[in-house]
Amino acid sequence: MTDLLIRNATLPDGSTGIDIAVAGGRITAIEPGITAEAGEVIDAGGLLVSPPFVDPHFHMDATLSLGLPRMNVSGTLLEGIALWGELRPTLTKEALIERAVRYCDLAVSKGLMAVRSHVDVSDPRLVTAEALLEVREIVKPYLDLQLVAFPQDGYYRGPGIVEALERALDMGIDIVGGIPHFERTMEDGARSVEALCRIAADRGLMVDMHCDETDDPMSRHVETLAAQTIRFGLQGRVSGSHLTSMHSMDNYYVSKLLPLIAEAQMAAIPNPLINIMLQGRHDTYPKRRGLTRIPQMLEMGIPVGLGQDCVMDPWYSMGTGDLLDVAHMAVHATQMGSVADKRTLFDAVTVNSARIMGLGGYGLEPGCYADMVILQAKDTAEAIRLRPARLKVIRRGKVVAETAPEVTRLSLDGRPASLDPTDYAPKGVI
Ligand code: FE2
Repeated sequence: MTDLLIRNATLPDGSTGIDIAVAGGRITAIEPGITAEAGEVIDAGGLLVSPPFVDPHFHMDATLSLGLPRMNVSGTLLEGIALWGELRPTLTKEALIERAVRYCDLAVSKGLMAVRSHVDVSDPRLVTAEALLEVREIVKPYLDLQLVAFPQDGYYRGPGIVEALERALDMGIDIVGGIPHFERTMEDGARSVEALCRIAADRGLMVDMHCDETDDPMSRHVETLAAQTIRFGLQGRVSGSHLTSMHSMDNYYVSKLLPLIAEAQMAAIPNPLINIMLQGRHDTYPKRRGLTRIPQMLEMGIPVGLGQDCVMDPWYSMGTGDLLDVAHMAVHATQMGSVADKRTLFDAVTVNSARIMGLGGYGLEPGCYADMVILQAKDTAEAIRLRPARLKVIRRGKVVAETAPEVTRLSLDGRPASLDPTDYAPKGVI
C-alpha cells in the first residue's frame, strides 16, 4: 500500500515529470507515471522536489542569544569569542534547550533536517553538552542532530578543558572537535591536532575541527590535520571547517596542500556567510574575502559541504536557518555563477553535507527515507536565486511544515493582477 504519492516533481538533476511513491516512511519508487493507489496525493505541479537541506556546521548552544549580555560592537571573530566567554557562565540548561528547540523549529520550516552542531566544552560544568544531548532527543522525530565536542577557548588554553572534552564524549557527544589556530602557539595548535586525532582514533569517532579560521597565510594546521588523519588511519572521517587561511596562502604552497587534503580523504566545510562577514577585518583596501578555495577543492575531488555556522549569536546578528542563503552567498563570493555551478552549490547544501555527516537513508532513491522538500522554484538555480517558500517539508512520508506560496497581488493599471516569482525563469534553461 502506498501511503503518499507525490506527482509531477522536478528533481535536482533536472529530470521532470517524476512521481515519488512512499510507504512505511521510505521511498518505494521514483519514476514517471506511477499508477499506484495512495492514501494521500500531493501534486508538485512541476516544481523542484529536493532531499532535505543539511547544515554540517552550526553552533546550537549559542544560537538566538543575540544581544546577551551585549552586542558585538567590533563585529570581529575575537570579540565574538570574548562575548561568548561573558555569556557562558550565565547559561542555564533550560534556556539553552528553549533556544535550541526554537531554532530547530525554524530550521525545519526551511526544509533543514540534519545539523552538525559544535558544542562548547570549555566550561567544565558542561551544561552546554547536557542541554544539547537533551535537544538531540527532543528533535529526533524531525531533525537529525550530530554533536561535536568543541573546545572554543582552545584545548590547551583553559583549565580543565582537556578533561571536559573527554567527559563530553563519555556523555554521548558524537564527534571530536578542535580549534588549533586559537591555541597559544603554532606548536600548541599542532599538539592539539595530534592529541584530538588520537582520541578520535582510540574511540572510533569522526573529527571536525575549526581549522585555520584566520587570514594568516602562514597558519599551517590544515596541513597538520591532513597528516595526522593519514597517520592515525582516519581517512574519510575527518572534516576541516572554515579553512579561511587558504584564501590568503601562497599558490605554490596550496598546490602541495590540496593533494594532501585529497590523499587524507578530508572533507571541507566552509561557511560563506560568516567567512565573508568576519574575515579580512584587519585589511583596509583591497579587503580579502577570506572564503576558502571552494572551486579548486571541488576540482580536486575534495568533498565540500557548506555550513551556516551561526544564526543570531555573538558572531553573527543575521541568519534565518535557510541553507539557500548560504548557497546564495557562495555563488557570489566564489563567483560560481553558471547554471552548472549553482547545481554544484545546491549539492553542497544537500547531498555533499549528508555524505560528510554519514547520514544513513538520505536521498531521493528507492529505499531512502521519505524526507524531502517541495520548493516554489522550477530548478536548483532558481531555488538559489529566489530562496523561495518551502511549500511542503516532508519527514518520513508525513508533512511536518507547510508554507503558502509567495504570490504578490498588483494593483497597477493595465498590468497583470498577480506576480508569481517563478514566472521570471529564463525559458529553456535548466
Ligand atoms: Fe564554527
